[in-house]
Amino acid sequence: MSDEIEDIGSNPSPRAGIAEVVAARLSRRAALRGLAGAGAAAALADQLIEDATAQIAQSQLRTAQIPMTGGPSTLTFPELHHQMAQTDAVAEGYEIQHVIRWGDPVLPQAPAFDPMRQTAQAQALQFGYNNDFLDFIPLPRGSNGSDHGLLWVNHEYTSTRLIFPSTDGRPVSNRQTTAEQAAVEMMAHGGSLVEIRRVNGRWQSLPGGTLNRRITAETPMRLSGPAAGHPRMRTNNDPTGTRVLGMLNQCAGGNTPWGTVLTTEENFNAYFSGEAAATGEQAAAYRRYGIPRQPVYNWAAHVPRFSLDREPNEPNRFGWIVEIDPFDPNSTPIKRTALGRFKHEGCTHAVAPDDRVVIYMGDDERNDYVYKFVTARPWNPNDLSANRDLLDEGTLYVAKFEDDGTLRWLPLTHGEGPLTSANNFHNQGDVLIETRRAADLLGATPMDRPEDVETNPATGRVYVMLTNNASRTTANAANPRPRNAHGHVLEIIPPGAGTAAVDHAGLEARWEIFLLAGKPGQDVGARYHRATSDQGWLSCPDNCAFDSKGRIWIATDGAPSAAGVADGLYAADTMGGGRALTKLFYQAPSGAEVCGPTFTPDNKTLFLAIQHPGEDSGSSFNNPSTRWPDFDPAMPPRPTVIAIVKKDGGVIG
Ligand code: FEO
Ligand code: CA
Ligand code: CA
Repeated sequence: MSDEIEDIGSNPSPRAGIAEVVAARLSRRAALRGLAGAGAAAALADQLIEDATAQIAQSQLRTAQIPMTGGPSTLTFPELHHQMAQTDAVAEGYEIQHVIRWGDPVLPQAPAFDPMRQTAQAQALQFGYNNDFLDFIPLPRGSNGSDHGLLWVNHEYTSTRLIFPSTDGRPVSNRQTTAEQAAVEMMAHGGSLVEIRRVNGRWQSLPGGTLNRRITAETPMRLSGPAAGHPRMRTNNDPTGTRVLGMLNQCAGGNTPWGTVLTTEENFNAYFSGEAAATGEQAAAYRRYGIPRQPVYNWAAHVPRFSLDREPNEPNRFGWIVEIDPFDPNSTPIKRTALGRFKHEGCTHAVAPDDRVVIYMGDDERNDYVYKFVTARPWNPNDLSANRDLLDEGTLYVAKFEDDGTLRWLPLTHGEGPLTSANNFHNQGDVLIETRRAADLLGATPMDRPEDVETNPATGRVYVMLTNNASRTTANAANPRPRNAHGHVLEIIPPGAGTAAVDHAGLEARWEIFLLAGKPGQDVGARYHRATSDQGWLSCPDNCAFDSKGRIWIATDGAPSAAGVADGLYAADTMGGGRALTKLFYQAPSGAEVCGPTFTPDNKTLFLAIQHPGEDSGSSFNNPSTRWPDFDPAMPPRPTVIAIVKKDGGVIG
């Protein structure tokens, strides 16, 4: 999602800014020493900044553990060259296929896509906008099939100026949509489940699939777990606090061992607005989540529940992880409140040796946190229905990355530490509705925008994509660069990583930095394998996936503005002599980011969600910077799921 909405930075934690740290320490030391003069204060400030710089230098030592021993990558594809272009590109020897585009039919009754005459009714049957997380679910169920399956797709947000034709010569603004346009936008959100099949080597979507489904901003859902039914979850339409319409801003995601999809609500704040953001009882809580007074989207003007002044609790019903059963088209999606409320991005699972399930998650905002949830009970592989409500009971933890390479998981449990009535946490529901404030009080480590978090099934290490944080002034060892414009990738190493018994559920782990993004030799602190080529460096890591050899595939979001190169997909070994030697495999079309990388089980197809093509400055429906993927003068650019296959039919990489 574009930084305009995403990158707000609402953590008021004093740990977040060097200016505040210096000021606080200055006044304390000045008081202690009886210092008053401006000269003495300035000298002290210099000393403290020097201290902070030394701390940064020391923290860089943790990155020195990247083996710089050289050695060839196991990846043999010929690397692409960095470029910016209207169309996309993939390494030689590979082929790009378009699987499904915005407006294509998902359900059989869907009318043909007509961008000049869009209706909410049509959009509710067609593929939504801005595809993000992808989950390939082989068919038949439980198989390792790689030519036929269900594809779950998140639809994160809408780019109003690229969706609707202009009526007055100016691009349509998201703040000025009509009621019908807002309704189209609401139907373009959510997710799609669509059957896909590879026929004669080519992937195609099957609009007649019996499990196909569209989920939108109005699909009835259930709230479950400790915050369900809480007084702050109740609205005029739902006095029980357990029923909600729709999900918003689905970004990355994951799945469960029992075969359900986990989809994440990220920048839910953008859809709400009202005076209550400034003056209401929950104004401070709104602020911590960036819920604005003025609308970003114009939905509140047309749909009362998006107005804070009409329904002050409605935003509390968004910002959750949603569990969906792809094999039951009539099932009700469930918002699992036990997993916390924040701008959820990644949601990857791992299984502890005792079969409890662990879900790793990121909160994508500058200076926000990394979390994990551990179920109270083990999952049951022999009776899938026994796992139905496993995600309602367990412990949510937030990460504290110590400078010595230790990671401590701090429980967000009501009644423990500061999470008591003294701080207005009267029950676990309060802790979950205000997860961010609870984590602030525990002293979690402010991170450089944790986006996707994924487990490497080959090693048990967990990778956190930290996309960037140009406003960071105080480094910590896990976020070692102030003004981190290019982001980095951090590894969590649970006890037992590399063995068959990885303890994902424990209270401690180790951490290391895998790479520091940016252009080596140009961007301060950029670090990769020393053999990384001039084409292999990347900027703004956002999503990632692992192939069956445990190699990481990193998708970027924001490289055009941060580094002047297109967003793309980069691959690297995670272990051995080629560790952190990134290579450029795919390059997105103009204005697009790359999302949702996922492989078929045979690793012969890689799916990517190409999001917001044409979302460049000055680009609009009538005058787009690209018309990818159709290049038809009657078609605007269309977010599209692509499949990449090797021309010789081999394994990707
Ligand atoms: Fe939706 Fe944080 O990317
Ligand atoms: Ca992003
Ligand atoms: Ca993302």
